Amino acid sequence: MDLRLDGKTALVTGGSRGIGKAIAKSFVDSGARVMITSRKAESCEATANEIGCDYEAGHVGKPEDAERVVDACLERLGGVDILVNNAATNPYAGPTIDVDVPRWNKTLEVNLTAPLMWSQLTWNKWQKQNPGGSIINISSVGGLSTNPALGVYDVTKAALIHLTKQLAAELAPNVRVNALAPGLVKTDFAKYLWEDGKGDEVAEIYPLKRLGEPEDIASAATWLAADSGRWITGQTIVLDGGGLIAFPRGQ
Ligand SMILES: NC(=O)c1ccc[n+]([C@@H]2O[C@H](COP(=O)([O-])OP(=O)(O)OC[C@H]3O[C@@H](n4cnc5c(N)ncnc54)[C@H](OP(=O)(O)O)[C@@H]3O)[C@@H](O)[C@H]2O)c1
Repeated sequence: MDLRLDGKTALVTGGSRGIGKAIAKSFVDSGARVMITSRKAESCEATANEIGCDYEAGHVGKPEDAERVVDACLERLGGVDILVNNAATNPYAGPTIDVDVPRWNKTLEVNLTAPLMWSQLTWNKWQKQNPGGSIINISSVGGLSTNPALGVYDVTKAALIHLTKQLAAELAPNVRVNALAPGLVKTDFAKYLWEDGKGDEVAEIYPLKRLGEPEDIASAATWLAADSGRWITGQTIVLDGGGLIAFPRGQ
């Protein structure tokens, strides 16, 4: 099984920390030339120096930033074979029926419109003419269930799963498009769900008895992006220590 990415170029959004950083590091370790992007240039620079990759800061939801970052990747790395749509936001917690339109729109912009926009740019500027590419969308187990407080975020993650299938059908055979759906992973983003011992209770319910680490998601992303994933497209792989089979998330 070939897990190497030698000769490949990769762009990872939200790559300055957490899951995106672990994916970028795993790609670098597998031989790819990698660019990370996130809003804060200083964080990108620190991570890029640490793991040995390039960076260009930008907001995933801003079309002008997206174009600038993709162009920088083409110019400095020579291509964008692999795109990881990883950056996401969650500005609202509460019943979906009560959400205000600005926060609904913000969640959609970052979690759903941005992955489409970045896929369009990489497809039109590189992947269409250079077959063998891969797009990996970072969804969530929330996109496969319901939750009393995270419904808005979960709607975007469910839509991302469908976008994955749709683009997989449209971009084949040039590009494979897949999604990963993590359960609770120990990152800043989800800290309020695992800090102060709350994570221990969740881990106890997970059949594999621990929360996820960013590296658990990175190893699956690398396996999907490499030749090992060559006959997989349109799929969503759940990485949650068995959580989804053990309890309905809505509880
Ligand atoms: N952690 C979990 O339990 C969990 C579970 C399921 C799914 N996920 C998904 O996994 C992905 C990564 O999450 P994470 O837990 O690794 O989060 P994280 O540690 O908070 O990292 C988020 C990354 O995204 C960047 N970012 C945030 N908003 C951005 C924007 N508007 N434009 C550009 N970059 C932006 C952040 O950098 P800046 O602040 O510099 O922009 C950072 O690099 C997300 O799609 C999330 O929905 C996470």
